Amino acid sequence: MKQIVALVGSIRKDSIHMNLVKHLKERYKDRLNIEILDLKQLPFYDQDIELEPPQSVVAFKKAVKEADGVIIATPEYNWSFSGVLKNALDWLSRVEREMTGKPTMLLGASPGIMGTIRAQLQLRQVLASPGIQARVLPPSQNEVVITQAFEKFDEAGKLIDQSTIEFLDKVIGNFEEFIEE
Ligand code: FNR
Repeated sequence: MKQIVALVGSIRKDSIHMNLVKHLKERYKDRLNIEILDLKQLPFYDQDIELEPPQSVVAFKKAVKEADGVIIATPEYNWSFSGVLKNALDWLSRVEREMTGKPTMLLGASPGIMGTIRAQLQLRQVLASPGIQARVLPPSQNEVVITQAFEKFDEAGKLIDQSTIEFLDKVIGNFEEFIEE
């Protein structure tokens, strides 16, 4: 069983990204143990306390360090990924640099027709930076950019779009192979 942590860049209660990650957690539970980390508990990154950070940061960094892979699900906010996610990545980029070499895959969904593609391009750039250097699943065949997302979940937040469900099956399979490489 692979240990996966999920970073969800939206902290609102009805987040489609949280619902997306919950779908993955349930659908692949026989193969993947997906732990959803609570980014709301993290304080703003502060260099003055990075060597002795609060317990929420210690626990967060430990969970990422011990994971076989990381799933990042982020909304697009103003053509970029969310500040909540950037803050989490900044913590991970310092001291032990838990993301270095970590197999990572990206997911995004938006009500519009761009499906977070602009956010994901910027995220890939940040994930390649010297303090992070994650090993990101290449985009070919693996770009999870879910458009018109509000039509693809039901009122209870369950993913109901069959083609999206099947595409995610393929990408998750590719990610599992990528972790093994
Ligand atoms: C948005 N949204 C948005 N959508 C998009 O496709 N491109 C964008 O640049 C933005 N910008 C943006 C800024 C801010 C501050 C908010 C609150 C929203 C819409 C966004 O895709 C939508 O609210 C999603 O539902 C956010 O994801 P969660 O919170 O449902 O996971």
